[in-house]
Amino acid sequence: MARVLLIDDEPVFYKMVEHALKPQGYELEYARSGLDGLRAAGEFEPEIIIVDVKLPDLDGYDVVQRLRSTPRFRNTPIIFLTSQADLPNKLKGFEVGADDFLAKPFQPEELLARIGILVRKSETLRSALPAGPTREPATVLALHSLRGGVGCTSLAVNLAIACHQLWEKPTLLIDADMTAGQVALMLNTSPARTFDDLTNRHSSEIDDDIIRKITSKHNSGINFIASPSSPVADDSFADDLWVELLNRLQETYDFIIIDTGHNFGNIAIHMLNQATTILQVIAPEMASIRSSINALELYHLLGYPSEKIKPVLNQTLAVAGIKQAQIEKVLKLPVSFSLPYAPNEFIRAINFGQPVILQNPEIASTELLEEMAYDLSGESLKAIPPSSPSVVWKRVTQKLAAKK
Ligand SMILES: Nc1ncnc2c1ncn2[C@@H]1O[C@H](COP(=O)(O)OP(=O)(O)OP(=O)(O)O)[C@@H](O)[C@H]1O
Ligand SMILES: [Mg+2]
Repeated sequence: MARVLLIDDEPVFYKMVEHALKPQGYELEYARSGLDGLRAAGEFEPEIIIVDVKLPDLDGYDVVQRLRSTPRFRNTPIIFLTSQADLPNKLKGFEVGADDFLAKPFQPEELLARIGILVRKSETLRSALPAGPTREPATVLALHSLRGGVGCTSLAVNLAIACHQLWEKPTLLIDADMTAGQVALMLNTSPARTFDDLTNRHSSEIDDDIIRKITSKHNSGINFIASPSSPVADDSFADDLWVELLNRLQETYDFIIIDTGHNFGNIAIHMLNQATTILQVIAPEMASIRSSINALELYHLLGYPSEKIKPVLNQTLAVAGIKQAQIEKVLKLPVSFSLPYAPNEFIRAINFGQPVILQNPEIASTELLEEMAYDLSGESLKAIPPSSPSVVWKRVTQKLAAKK
């Protein structure tokens, strides 16, 4: 029999629902708040969800909206249980994605009948439709700048570790700077596995074995693909290789962070095409701003939607550079993230191969990098709290809740 989740803060309704459903063989799980309900949905994988509108933290509409934003619960039947089943409330409920309403107080027979109808409908739908994706799509972040020395590699390394620490999900860092990649150095490794193994290969050769041959592990828990051992031209790689490779990697990893290099070569364009978000890194000086304007124009010509591009202002200069407001004015775009000047930490990180985020958990840069990683994570991932949240997840979400 189907698994049913009831999200309601009044125990009396749990008793009523239990009394109606248990004898029929339904498995029932109960949560008393919106957030607990989301957490329970993640663990219990219900086939039917019954939600009260008034809850102590998130209201029922928020809960349904968050559930509907995830592939797992896009089609799960949801019934609103409410004492306010008037027309405006019903319309609002249907708008966020509820399938049915039941006014409190209700007759157990009516609840059973409605659940029965929804179960049958969803079974018919499931057998008629091809199975949709139940896995969340991977978050692909490409760090890019046409000017070198603005912090692309430092940010890529730290963001990858931040994403991994936050969600504890498979994370891959790709060094796509094929001429002067520094990711391996910043991770204090000299890997035997690099992109070298992909040169002169055909896209049909991309399989798990090849991917294993080019991927290294770092003791922070992330995996990475290092740039070639010596500079390699873009045309040493087959063009269609990159689409195949990135598609495969997105099946394995929840997060892929790419240090894209400082050009618009063939490889960079493939990486940028597949990115969920392009982080355009800018230092507060004229040459960097000018190259960012050029990059933004090219993104536009490549047809990238504006919400895919997020400028990151990185204070790499000891002197006060051009102000953020002025930069935003010339870019005609708000800066999405701004990182402070922290020369000692970033230089030490490079010289000893110890990323800032691992060495300096208490400094402002680390805090901001963690918040940035959370902000850039997929909405469907953020919608449902993890069943055993990481230390970083707790820290970031507590801070965000306090800000609200
Ligand atoms: N927020 C910061 N504060 C102070 N120094 C920084 C900061 N971010 C990066 N740096 C320093 O700036 C320099 C360039 O950083 P990084 O190598 O990450 O940039 P890049 O854009 O990848 O450069 P390239 O690819 O051209 O070598 C490094 O010395 C790094 O320590
Ligand atoms: Mg670099």
